[in-house]
Amino acid sequence: MENLLFINACVRGERSRTLKLARRFLEGYQKAHPDTVITQRDLCAQRLQPQYPEVLAERDELWAAGKLDQPMFEPAREFAAADKIVVAAPFWDLCFPAVLKIYLERISVTDVTFGYDDQGAMVGLCRASKLLYVVTRGGNYAGTDLEMGTPMLRALCAMYGIPELITLATEGLDDVRQDKQALLDAALLRADALAGEF
Ligand SMILES: Cc1cc2nc3c(=O)[nH]c(=O)nc-3n(C[C@H](O)[C@H](O)[C@H](O)COP(=O)(O)O)c2cc1C
Repeated sequence: MENLLFINACVRGERSRTLKLARRFLEGYQKAHPDTVITQRDLCAQRLQPQYPEVLAERDELWAAGKLDQPMFEPAREFAAADKIVVAAPFWDLCFPAVLKIYLERISVTDVTFGYDDQGAMVGLCRASKLLYVVTRGGNYAGTDLEMGTPMLRALCAMYGIPELITLATEGLDDVRQDKQALLDAALLRADALAGEF
């Protein structure tokens, strides 16, 4: 049975347009793939600690002892085992909210989500074939050097061994000249179409 992991970094909760877009995709995906088990991790509810010195020290100690089965590494194990992954995060300060960065730091565990081969080359250990990044932006940044969310996640997908990153984005939502509802409605239709293909 396929399992899809949904990482929800939509800090504004029910007011989030990114979450609305992600949920629309997930509803369509579930309809198209009724057997898929979708597991949500709400990062604002989960509140993983940043890697402050004591957190990192505990992590280093457990890792050095080979205790990769400890709860500390559960998010990384879950991420590594997912067949498909959806990450929903608003565009903040040209990238994404810190809660997502904290999560990514916590799941980037050597010998769980990535490792190294005999030659010292990095090898991805994640099972997922695809990662979908759902994002809404206030301004227009797609395809510019200022948009740092997609490149960051693309690089991490390479590290994790996830072959495909797809970005579902809508932008200009805080531009007063734009019809916000029309932009969002168009994105929701793109989410419907993608749900059948992803
Ligand atoms: C803390 C914060 C930082 C933001 N930074 C940017 C930014 O750098 N560029 C941009 O275009 N929009 C920025 N925005 C606007 C959001 O990207 C936009 O409103 C988005 O649709 C919010 O998504 P949400 O409705 O899912 O929360 C920012 C919003 C917040 C709250």
